[in-house]
Amino acid sequence: MASLIEIRNMCKIYNPGENEVRALDHVSLSIGENEFVAIIGHSGSGKSTLMNMLGCLDVPTSGIYLLHGSDVSLLSDDELSDIRNQEIGFIFQGFNLISNLTAFENVELPLIYRGVSKRERTHLAKEALRKVGLENRMTHKPSEMSGGQQQRVAIARAIAQAPPVILADEPTGNLDSHSSQEIMNILKTLHAEGRTVIVITHDNDIAANAKRIIHIEDGRITSDSSNEGNLSREDIAEEIRGNSTMYESNTESTYEEPELNQTEEIEPTYEPSADDYDLEINDNNIDLHLMNGENQNEQEE
Ligand SMILES: Nc1ncnc2c1ncn2[C@@H]1O[C@H](COP(=O)(O)OP(=O)(O)OP(=O)(O)O)[C@@H](O)[C@H]1O
Ligand SMILES: [Mg+2]
Repeated sequence: MASLIEIRNMCKIYNPGENEVRALDHVSLSIGENEFVAIIGHSGSGKSTLMNMLGCLDVPTSGIYLLHGSDVSLLSDDELSDIRNQEIGFIFQGFNLISNLTAFENVELPLIYRGVSKRERTHLAKEALRKVGLENRMTHKPSEMSGGQQQRVAIARAIAQAPPVILADEPTGNLDSHSSQEIMNILKTLHAEGRTVIVITHDNDIAANAKRIIHIEDGRITSDSSNEGNLSREDIAEEIRGNSTMYESNTESTYEEPELNQTEEIEPTYEPSADDYDLEINDNNIDLHLMNGENQNEQEE
């Protein structure tokens, strides 16, 4: 059976030319259904770039991305938009809630864009908020909630339509350790219910919750190991020291490029531009709009 996610020899080069940044450097990776994966690495190692690829928010410079066995580069913009809206729930470090909407309205909003009926979206939004333990905070605005509660609203928004894949980029980056563990417990529950959960983090404690831990350094995967035995934080630090160059300087990567049939560089068929992002908003992808730079207050004007 094909993997849910199959990335082959993927490169992402920003600013090609003299000042180019090779944010992903021949990354190959398979993720199966119902895996719980942490992608860990230092700041600037390429984690968010990889998440943008996994979430079909950006296109690689070269390489292949097969989602459910289909080549993503061959899909139309509408098909990609459908995938983002129906298959993937995005969670971001900054919550990206709309500050003048209540918790309920924030969860409901993407469902409105998706054309879900009032009755159905009321049910879905309430159910999602109940799932993250916020049934008593439905009418609260973000400013009336703690950071952990705001992130739970963002999770409720991400899971309201039961996407099979949850992609979280530093979901606990702005939270204290207690709230972080609450968020991770929710993600664990989503995994136990059968979702595929991919969490991007630079925090070993957070990564320790996952069943598989992938390290990325300078755009390359330097280790990929199972965490079935629920490793402690110390075990993970040891694992990192033993298997990757993450905490060492001036050391060659131990990663070996797998043999691949695909050697040609593939030109992306679609380059996103600012206009496309506007199009995406109209076309209901609010997360894409919100994650592209501006803060949430600017979004509400
Ligand atoms: N739009 C862009 N244009 C140019 N360079 C970029 C762009 N986005 C990211 N980069 C560069 O690509 C590299 C990888 O960035 P990325 O955001 O993926 O890192 P990260 O691992 O998510 O870091 P952090 O932990 O700080 O979020 C960095 O060197 C970054 O400066
Ligand atoms: Mg990042």
